[in-house]
Amino acid sequence: VKRIGILTSGGDSQGMNAAVRAVVRMAIFRGCEPFLIHEGYNGLIKGKDMISKASWEDVSGFLTTGGTVIGTARCTEFREYEGRQIAALNLIKTGISALVVIGGDGSLTGADNLRAEWPNHIADLLKKDLITKQMATDFSCLMIVGMVGSIDNDLATTDLTIGAVSALTRICEAVDALQCTASSHHRAFVVEVMGRSCGWLALSAAICTGADYVFIPEDPPNSSTWEKKLCTELKNRRDAGKKTSLVIVAEGAVDSELNPIKSEHIKDILTTRLNYDTRVTILGHVQRGGSPSFYDRYLGTVQGAEAIEAILKADASTPSLVIGILENKITAQPLKEAIKLTKQVANEIKNKNFSRALELRSTSFLN
Ligand code: F6P
Repeated sequence: VKRIGILTSGGDSQGMNAAVRAVVRMAIFRGCEPFLIHEGYNGLIKGKDMISKASWEDVSGFLTTGGTVIGTARCTEFREYEGRQIAALNLIKTGISALVVIGGDGSLTGADNLRAEWPNHIADLLKKDLITKQMATDFSCLMIVGMVGSIDNDLATTDLTIGAVSALTRICEAVDALQCTASSHHRAFVVEVMGRSCGWLALSAAICTGADYVFIPEDPPNSSTWEKKLCTELKNRRDAGKKTSLVIVAEGAVDSELNPIKSEHIKDILTTRLNYDTRVTILGHVQRGGSPSFYDRYLGTVQGAEAIEAILKADASTPSLVIGILENKITAQPLKEAIKLTKQVANEIKNKNFSRALELRSTSFLN
């Protein structure tokens, strides 16, 4: 019977629990044994009680719950070879030969590193007498399947990541609430949203709330003219009869010289140059909280089922895979390629190739 480990890693996101539930139940349905690994890679390194066999009932109630019930962590030990070797030993000792990792690009890269080094870990563990020759033969290969749990929607090869839609819903609700009070006071609001170096949440929120202006990392405004352009645009709208102004800022927004664009700075500009009564709202972790939207329950569930199918179809030559959704079809793509393309966007921004960054972000990356 195949034993499959499941863990969530990095920042949590709504729908991770739905994904865990689907992986567990599909594994059982397909005759495998699922194991929950608690607290992300920390649990994998600690072993023992942190890795437990999961039953069908163990994941009941998961579908509608936010956060990640099995816990998550940003694990520094797993970034080192030695840490990954302890993780390898714990997997072998538990009899796990396939791992489903639900997390962002950093967590998925970690999993791919573990797989790439697997033959070295086996050789080292044998040399140290920590595993037998039989174990080395039985566990000669580790299969990795990633699922992208992140509110940032920043991974290439998938149109949406698990959690992004819930976070966007939360942002829209919050901005709608702000609009009421903004309107009572004729105020301007600068709303900062998460997303690291990805502007998807900010741009989508701006479209969905009818914002007057948006700043995203992939399309930085000219460093010497943006402040004036912002003021002109907002003033024109007020002159046309609007009572309020709404600016959405991605937390990773920069100008064309890569200087960060900070919410407080925008507030100062609106206050001093336009004399607008302005408030800043940094939405923060509320964006990652609360129960998952219908879409993240759905995405976590169908992708979790696909993760098990991908494991069962894989052989030693199958690369690590990442489950995605492209044009409404659930996909399994090579994980390395997805990570490489994702990093490319950040590099294009660093190298000031903004049009390329934007182009890469706005296509499925596969064409
Ligand atoms: O990657 C998800 C995310 O929520 C980012 O949008 C944000 O920058 C970061 O995690 C916050 O991390 P932490 O929860 O460690 O403060």
